[in-house]
Amino acid sequence: MVEVQNKIRRLLKEKNAILLAHNYQRPEIQDVADLCGDSLELSLKAAGTDADVILFCGVHFMAETASIACPDKTVLLPVSNAGCPMADAITPETLLAKKAELPGVPVVTYVNSPASVKALSDMCCTSANAIEVAKSLDSKRILMTPDRNLAMYVAQRTDKEIILWDGCCPVHDEMTRQDVLAQKEAHPEAVFIAHPECRPEVLDLADRICSTSGMLSYVRQSDAEAFIVGTEEGLLYPMRRDNPHKRFYLAWEGLVCQDMKRTRIADVLRSLENMEHVIKVPETIRIPAFKAVSRMLDLRKPTRS
Ligand code: 13P
Ligand code: SF4
Repeated sequence: MVEVQNKIRRLLKEKNAILLAHNYQRPEIQDVADLCGDSLELSLKAAGTDADVILFCGVHFMAETASIACPDKTVLLPVSNAGCPMADAITPETLLAKKAELPGVPVVTYVNSPASVKALSDMCCTSANAIEVAKSLDSKRILMTPDRNLAMYVAQRTDKEIILWDGCCPVHDEMTRQDVLAQKEAHPEAVFIAHPECRPEVLDLADRICSTSGMLSYVRQSDAEAFIVGTEEGLLYPMRRDNPHKRFYLAWEGLVCQDMKRTRIADVLRSLENMEHVIKVPETIRIPAFKAVSRMLDLRKPTRS
């Protein structure tokens, strides 16, 4: 393991490459990354780096976002079929049909979406800035795609009329109120933190709702000593590493994203050695998608709220 990690570090230097990893990645990948973060932090880092190569350990839409922001760089995704069922819940065709029903209504699209859908959207958002993005638009009505849970979360916290898209993250959406209540009963002293991709009735039980990196900074600065964590289990690794005296319980055992777990450390090494799999968004899609992404990135740095 250490040998593979050392080889990866050596190759990263040789190729002037940067390794970006999402907070849900396997521990041994997080350990070798130049930056672990949530979608917003990773997009900002990709947009600002002067590396020649961006090796993205995450899922396909994340590598696409890096390619949208950095057309001159080589973007690599170690495992080509690391996808996202939420991103698959929307296509350019279905979005165009919906837009035709809603003339003049701006479209805010979660970054967990295909580049071709971002290209048809007015602005992107992440879990860290969705409320801020919605508030920044003049329009009272907004179509939010593809995550209905994130859209309902925004609708409840702004005065906007949010039109929903019927997509979701199955990992978060399948967690029920009963699952959380059982953990609360087992650990009555624990604070419950949840990701906005969870259902509204689950979010109603939360003491804090935030992005993955928002959760990391919250648990670091909180006086509480125990936390029930309502997001993918990969986040428990940095939580426990950074807070050895605090206790963390996964809110539900099903919080495991198979797509995020597809990438293994050997894939990362192979990806660098063979310079595969290159993710390149064609210019016809990239240019309009870049507008939607950069409008979000220009808003401001992550608030981790
Ligand atoms: P964030 O890390 O941006 O909160 O996103 C969570 C997620 O589901 C990514 O796939
Ligand atoms: Fe997609 Fe959910 Fe996995 Fe994130 S956790 S990549 S939204 S399926």
